[in-house]
Amino acid sequence: MGLITLNRPKAMNALNDDLSQEVIGVLKAFDGDASIGAIVLTGSEKAFAAGADIREMHEKSFVDMFNENYFSAWDVISTIRKPIIAAVNGFALGGGCELAMLCDFIIAGSNAKFGQPEIKLGILPGIGGSQRLTRLVGRSLAMDLILTGRLIDAQEAKACGLVARVVPPEELLSVALDAADKIASYSYPAVLLAKEAVNRAEEVSLSEGVRHERRLFQAAFATSGQKEGMAAFLEKREAVFSGR
Ligand code: CAA
Repeated sequence: MGLITLNRPKAMNALNDDLSQEVIGVLKAFDGDASIGAIVLTGSEKAFAAGADIREMHEKSFVDMFNENYFSAWDVISTIRKPIIAAVNGFALGGGCELAMLCDFIIAGSNAKFGQPEIKLGILPGIGGSQRLTRLVGRSLAMDLILTGRLIDAQEAKACGLVARVVPPEELLSVALDAADKIASYSYPAVLLAKEAVNRAEEVSLSEGVRHERRLFQAAFATSGQKEGMAAFLEKREAVFSGR
């Protein structure tokens, strides 16, 4: 299991270029490391991340943003094959909320606050917020959050499906690490196939998605994990997966 902790306390973990490059680099390294089965991304008790770095952006022009293709580096997260859990305490705003949504699921401390307040800065979400939030919570609430810039707390985030679980803030990291450990204990190819199948649901029609899932499901029968998992069940013992 791999743990990444955002640590720029002076700026509420605002995502400047250095922090972004570092996080993306570590995610890619974890993805290529066979000893890591799942990844947890967290921040501090005050802030997961308060967005993209406003100080770094404020003087940029359209051409600067366009030529640098600002924020496009984050797209790589959707190519990471291993599950990534966002463990969110405190503020997850703007790019911070978008980063959490780029992860596979979010576990929130009860003190968490989510929002896309870019409208207050004269801009709009730029790391996929208008698309992922809409898919996660539906058009009406996404419009509300993106157009008014209001924040929602962990309970509302849970009620609308943005967040998978809400836990006491002090238990957040251990709950997220336990979840990552559990995922990492399962058959590695089954985990990758399952993540791929769920992600497919956002891209294709229901019938195409079900067809894709069926092929992945059938492919799981070519893994040692399937043989071991089913044998262990029938022999009433714990499965021991080899990673193959
Ligand atoms: N960028 C740069 N610096 C930031 C920052 C950000 N996104 N968020 C907070 N900071 C800095 C503040 O400037 C402040 O620094 P100084 O001490 O040097 O003044 C420090 O972090 C602490 O922040 P506050 O004093 O504001 O703390 P607070 O507790 O009063 O408020 C907050 C916390 C509600 C998170 C508030 O800081 C805030 O509203 N931050 C901005 C949130 C935001 O607008 N995010 C969207 C950014 S744009 C974006 O993300 C675009 C995109 O889609 C990719």
